[in-house]
Amino acid sequence: TMFHYLQPLLGVQLFLSCWAQAVPGDPNHFFYHDLLSGNGNGEIYFNGVKLFVESTQRSVFAVRGGNATLSCRYWYEPELTSPRQVRVKWSWVPAGEGQEVDVLVAIGTRSRSFGDFRGRVRLRQDFPGDAALVMTELQLNDTGRYRCEVVDGLEDKSSSVDLELRGVVFPYQPPHGRYHLSFLEAQQACEEQDSTLATFEQLFHSWKEGLNWCNAGWLADGTVQYPITQPRVPCGGHDLAPGIRSYGRRHRHLHHYDAFCFSSSLQGEVYYLQHPLKLNLTEAQEACQEDGAVIAKVGQLYAAWKLTGLDRCDAGWLADGSLRYPITKPRTNCGPSEPGVRSFGFPPPQHKHGVYCFRSADV
Ligand SMILES: *[C@@H]1O[C@H](CO)[C@@H](O)[C@H](O)[C@H]1NC(C)=O
Ligand SMILES: *[C@@H]1O[C@H](CO)[C@@H](O)[C@H](O)[C@H]1NC(C)=O
Ligand SMILES: *[C@@H]1O[C@H](CO)[C@@H](O)[C@H](O)[C@H]1NC(C)=O
Repeated sequence: TMFHYLQPLLGVQLFLSCWAQAVPGDPNHFFYHDLLSGNGNGEIYFNGVKLFVESTQRSVFAVRGGNATLSCRYWYEPELTSPRQVRVKWSWVPAGEGQEVDVLVAIGTRSRSFGDFRGRVRLRQDFPGDAALVMTELQLNDTGRYRCEVVDGLEDKSSSVDLELRGVVFPYQPPHGRYHLSFLEAQQACEEQDSTLATFEQLFHSWKEGLNWCNAGWLADGTVQYPITQPRVPCGGHDLAPGIRSYGRRHRHLHHYDAFCFSSSLQGEVYYLQHPLKLNLTEAQEACQEDGAVIAKVGQLYAAWKLTGLDRCDAGWLADGSLRYPITKPRTNCGPSEPGVRSFGFPPPQHKHGVYCFRSADV
């Protein structure tokens, strides 16, 4: 924000020195003329004109790989007859935690985007005052609060929109067992399963949908929590109301927990491989490749279960060496009475089972 204030201050100095030198007799005439001639450089601040900025949505839901438009509109009161040149800046505070980073800066028709957003964002500019941000090829980690800031001389107004993705939260425990992941390892574990550490909002949403899990896991903000819909003794006791139990912020290197990962829509398909034989883990990987696919990751199986209703009562290998199957229509001999992805942990890799494969839509 240093930068923002510098320019207006220079403007004021210029303004005052003009006043002193150019028009000792009739300053008002000079300045009002300058403002009303609408050359776009006069300070609206001194003329009682106010700048307004508004986003019509509080939050926008999208899917991975999809597009999103975050609204932002600015206008002046009283209305101005001639257009003015403003500076529009979109910035982003990642969900979870992190510092605000620049997304896009635009002056007139020129704009520049930054970092990971390069080539994926543009200003819409469909009508005067339209500063909506159009985003394409959304990634799992694009969620968070986007701020639209409009600067006109000394006036500086902003509004914000939350970007959220539709998807699924799943608890993740690595092959070597419960409570083995530091924060960084939890981040990596989720990424290896085609997902990202879940935010509190995502976990909360899943809890409302019934996620009940008694092992604590890292979230994207560095806190450790777990969602309980059915209170019971080993999970904080009967006396506590259902809710999200939090251990608060834990030490990122020293403390070890499980992870809550988040995955969203797939650019591809997860399926149970039709194969005449049961397969060990190596054979399972090879069989998917022979079918023009790869062995599915845990995040992909969850996304297929949640977002496309994959339902299959056959346990299959997944890329991390775990054995699972997805049930959307609970029935006898297919696990508990609630829908879910059933897990059998990590059996010895020489054991013989089915396999779930993932075929990318790009192939
Ligand atoms: C996203 O927008 C681009 C162009 O801006 C378009 O080509 C693409 O089809 C859109 N994708 C989706 C999923 O709507
Ligand atoms: C976000 O995800 C993309 C794609 O998975 C990755 O390339 C990028 O580095 C990630 N960005 C951050 C800030 O983690
Ligand atoms: C799976 O079986 C193949 C023989 O078909 C064998 O070469 C391989 O070592 C086995 N893999 C594991 C993990 O047991």
